Amino acid sequence: MLASMLGSRMTDGTGALGGEGSLAEVLEGRAGWHLAAADALEFAEELPDGCAHAVWIDPPYCSGGYTETARRQARGMLTSGSVKKLGWFINDNMGSAGLVWLLRCVAVQAFRVLVEGGSLGVFCDWKMIPLLAPALESSGLRWQAMVVWDKEQPGLGTGFRAQHEVVLHFVKGTGVFHDARTGNVLRESRIPTPDRNHQTAKPVSLIERCLAVVVPPGGLVVDLFAGGGSTGVAARRLGMRFVGSEIDPGIAATAKAEISQARSVVRTRGPVAQIPLFGEGK
Ligand SMILES: C[S@@+](CC[C@H](N)C(=O)[O-])C[C@H]1O[C@@H](n2cnc3c(N)ncnc32)[C@H](O)[C@@H]1O
Repeated sequence: MLASMLGSRMTDGTGALGGEGSLAEVLEGRAGWHLAAADALEFAEELPDGCAHAVWIDPPYCSGGYTETARRQARGMLTSGSVKKLGWFINDNMGSAGLVWLLRCVAVQAFRVLVEGGSLGVFCDWKMIPLLAPALESSGLRWQAMVVWDKEQPGLGTGFRAQHEVVLHFVKGTGVFHDARTGNVLRESRIPTPDRNHQTAKPVSLIERCLAVVVPPGGLVVDLFAGGGSTGVAARRLGMRFVGSEIDPGIAATAKAEISQARSVVRTRGPVAQIPLFGEGK
């Protein structure tokens, strides 16, 4: 039904439709994006079955594997200017068990809202993989792949300082993919601290490369932990619809401002050209 609705409406040539709207308007293809200042699970429950091509999330404090004591110590050590300026964000001090519980609930919702062949992507630290992967698979989704984000520079720490994060990739049934050119190691430099709009903001270009594989143009992307809005911006740039939630109203407002500025791009193998989304930039 959505496909025929999309086909009968004006688009900007990439399948993208309109700007901000209500959740219902985005689901019906009458608007391009919607972000709620809301809890992830409560928002997910509002989504109908089989509406989304991808649920792509970057949950709070998923850098685990630490003891709870080490977590508290790590938190106490974070005194950088950006943390002071931006503040710490909600649920970042959740323990490993709580996080596994939360994300298992999210995966159950993802299984319900995904179309057949749709994808769940979960950013996490490698230490969380043994805990998270089986919990997420118990939702009925199948673990398909692991994407490695190579940040080009090692982070804080000693010994072999981590230069990567991972995205655990799950599919509902047999995965449906839209770009066969992408390997599972994606090199993108992290966003410099002064440029970030969120403490753990991910590069939009990284998320674009992921979404291009798992979502068709005009498809629906869901991010339940939207933070500064990188997933929404990436989806809009690719001509996809986006709905999401962010529990902190201040952070949600920042994300909305970012997403409203996003312009779709025409992707080629060479440089990308910027074009306004339908109904925007006039
Ligand atoms: C790791 S950050 C996401 C960063 C984002 N990917 C970006 O690039 O800006 C996780 C976000 O989840 C939010 N959050 C924490 N608990 C939540 C919940 N129960 N529901 C919705 N959002 C939540 C936090 O406020 C935080 O902004």
